[in-house]
Amino acid sequence: MPLKKTICLVAGARPNFMKVAPLLKRIRAESSLLDAFLVHTGQHYDAAMSDVFFTDLGMPEPDVYLGVGSASHAVQTAQIMIEVETVVHERKPDMVLVVGDVNSTIAAGLVAAKLNIPLVHVEAGLRSGDRRMPEEINRILTDQLSDLLFTTSRDAHEHLAKEGIAAHKVHFTGNLMIESLVQHQHRFDAGTILTRHQLSKSNYVLVTLHRPSNVDNPESLKGLWAMLNRLAGTLPILFPIHPRTRKMAKLFNLSENEGFRLCDPIGYLEFMALQRDAALVLTDSGGIQEETTFFGVPCITVRENTERPVTITEGSNVLAGTDPDKVYAEALKILAGDKKIGKIPELWDDKVSHRILKVLEQYFKEEIK
Ligand code: UD1
Repeated sequence: MPLKKTICLVAGARPNFMKVAPLLKRIRAESSLLDAFLVHTGQHYDAAMSDVFFTDLGMPEPDVYLGVGSASHAVQTAQIMIEVETVVHERKPDMVLVVGDVNSTIAAGLVAAKLNIPLVHVEAGLRSGDRRMPEEINRILTDQLSDLLFTTSRDAHEHLAKEGIAAHKVHFTGNLMIESLVQHQHRFDAGTILTRHQLSKSNYVLVTLHRPSNVDNPESLKGLWAMLNRLAGTLPILFPIHPRTRKMAKLFNLSENEGFRLCDPIGYLEFMALQRDAALVLTDSGGIQEETTFFGVPCITVRENTERPVTITEGSNVLAGTDPDKVYAEALKILAGDKKIGKIPELWDDKVSHRILKVLEQYFKEEIK
């Protein structure tokens, strides 16, 4: 039997883990042609931001852990590049596969492209149109470097075509993060979190905010915080707070009213249960816009734009902007019953890794370019 081709899967930050998990499992269990190893860059390293996802998703330990940690964009990206290059030289993979839009994505992508190793991008073609977002830069550049691009929605294909990317490289395979959701949904359980915070099902607002544009600037964060304190007077709020946001809230001396409950970041299975059972989710995350769409739970996105418009056109998401008064008004409207449930977008199912694996095998059999 010929030697298997080896794929280096790269993950680094919290939203990456649920995207690599089903693919790693599928390649290892089903492919007679391909093998894979997992590199964790260590961009996220707290137990609550990283380890708990490996446990919850039943993932094996990463084959390589780089321990890069936090730093400025330039330093973090450069450090990941240096470390990934060493791994690639040592292990000589036949392909590098990256997911999403974090700094680990572009860093590993640059290394692969410069060493002429075929690069694959999962979740290609998403565009917010806002180049002030570091993720938008990561998306555009990773797509330019990639040899194979897998998309989650059809609008992505238009963006890629406009940017000159040949259609034969682009494959609509669906949403890999939703495959994790479908696979594990029978295990979603909020545990004791709700009782610990005196909350009950369908009677709380779940909040996450971590975008630098919302939380690093005192005026923005103070305005949003005051709005949450006000909203907590209508329905209690549970806010599992990102380390970045916690630091900033402390720096700006922010405090919470009675109905506004902060807690540490939460693991995958518990957090998914909290989304599923919320009356409303208020967020600036990308993935949460998609997960609430799958659940048909109303979501308000506290941003001026989204790279995931399908969650608005088809799903349960509303783009409210960042003006606290507008977000508050939208929240009250939804809590009063004026909400959309939407539908689950095309190919957001449990066969995504299967579709991706087929294309990867075809690529190595030279059935496609
Ligand atoms: C990163 C991604 C963002 C994603 C988010 C999910 C980039 C450019 N951004 O943002 O797209 O939505 O992850 O969480 O890649 N920190 C800890 N412990 C950790 C990780 C981070 O304390 O385990 C703190 C550090 O102070 C760090 C800050 O959070 O400086 C930001 O971490 P970083 O990885 O730079 O970006 P995120 O804001 O998490």
